[in-house]
Amino acid sequence: MGNTSDKIKIITKYEGMPNSRSLDTYLSKGGYEGLKKSFSMQPAQIIEEVKASGLRGRGGAGFPTGLKWSFVPQNIQGPKYLICNNDEGEPGTFKDRYIAELSPHMIVEGMIIAAKAIGACKGYIYTRYEFFEEIKWLEAAIQEAYKAGFLGKNILGSGFDFDLDHYTGAGAYICGEETGLISSLEGKKGQPKLKPPFPAVSGYLGRPTVVNNTETFAAVPWIMINGAAAHKAIGTEKSAGTKLFSISGAIKRPGVYELPLGYSFERFLNDDCGGMIEGRSLKACIPGGASAPILTPEELKGLTMDYEAIAAKGSMLGSGAVMIIDDRMSMVELMKVIADFYHHESCGQCTPCREGTGWLANIMGGIYHKEGQKGDVDKLWTVAKAMEGRTICALSDAAAMPTKAITKKFGDELRAFIERGAGA
Ligand SMILES: Cc1cc2nc3c(=O)[nH]c(=O)nc-3n(C[C@H](O)[C@H](O)[C@H](O)COP(=O)(O)O)c2cc1C
Repeated sequence: MGNTSDKIKIITKYEGMPNSRSLDTYLSKGGYEGLKKSFSMQPAQIIEEVKASGLRGRGGAGFPTGLKWSFVPQNIQGPKYLICNNDEGEPGTFKDRYIAELSPHMIVEGMIIAAKAIGACKGYIYTRYEFFEEIKWLEAAIQEAYKAGFLGKNILGSGFDFDLDHYTGAGAYICGEETGLISSLEGKKGQPKLKPPFPAVSGYLGRPTVVNNTETFAAVPWIMINGAAAHKAIGTEKSAGTKLFSISGAIKRPGVYELPLGYSFERFLNDDCGGMIEGRSLKACIPGGASAPILTPEELKGLTMDYEAIAAKGSMLGSGAVMIIDDRMSMVELMKVIADFYHHESCGQCTPCREGTGWLANIMGGIYHKEGQKGDVDKLWTVAKAMEGRTICALSDAAAMPTKAITKKFGDELRAFIERGAGA
């Protein structure tokens, strides 16, 4: 699936190698060397190194990873936990499963280093059940790591103990939200919890817990081996390192690409992905998963793929899921799919989300089935506006943001469709 070519390979280092998932292959190119290096460091030094590397969480929000780790209290009694958020539920995103397909040991190694840094005794990789192959690969890697002495008691004779398990979720978008994930792991309904307290202080079973995305953990071994400065030197000042982008749509070479942050969108689309397929033209692009506001061709001109540049255009890099919308795609259909998705996935805990996503789905259903009313587009915008910033987690905002952007930028297309539906 991967398409990384001449670019620096941090996460996709093992691309193209036979048996890339095996421990032997992983060890042949420096696997677990980052772990060994980290075991020669104090926990606080590991955290400082990750902080200095500029690594930001790759799950969506881009929160600085080292800073998150530093929030975990160091000198307290009792267990601390580490969780790999491998739920990957954001529509358009298919990059975490590529890491598990390519190098599951990179995830395991990153987690052991993180565990050492925060003093966690136990970790979980949380994957939705639909990814049954991925689960198999991850479980095999965990078993291999145990056999080789990278997991369990007294890892590599260091005196440090860390156990790692895989946990299979039932497949709900809300279980990708870190506190929803924690609820699910605790055996409860996958409903998010109020923050604060943040998981770093009170997470899994009420204990200090770090939740990071799969790609975030996978970047850590490289940082340990090559040093913070080498990582900071890649990308831009505020968006350091590389990022996996999963790109889909009517383009010649869709797939997963590892690119340095700050890479030109036009170069990515036209050179790396071979451009649009014959006869199609670019109508719009969703740059960071379904929650990210849509961008027009005008807004995409000169855009670079980093957190700041995309935010400056009013959207977000999110999970790095780039969805290319071509001229044959209907914004009515796109908006309906998005509205249905969030309505289906809302956990129902918060009224603005439960009711708001229902309203969006109902209005869009009406428009789609040619029963749209004059004023529906404005209604979509008003409902979306009322859903923002009022709920326990960001699912409500995730539904509101694309709705507002589509109604603002493609409202005329929606209105024309309503008129056609009602008139003829
Ligand atoms: C509704 C919702 C769904 C989410 N789904 C995912 C997901 O599938 N994977 C993920 O890593 N983060 C997801 N997140 C973000 C997590 O809550 C959390 O910020 C992330 O796992 C932290 O890891 P990071 O700092 O390494 O990015 C989601 C957030 C929300 C609000």
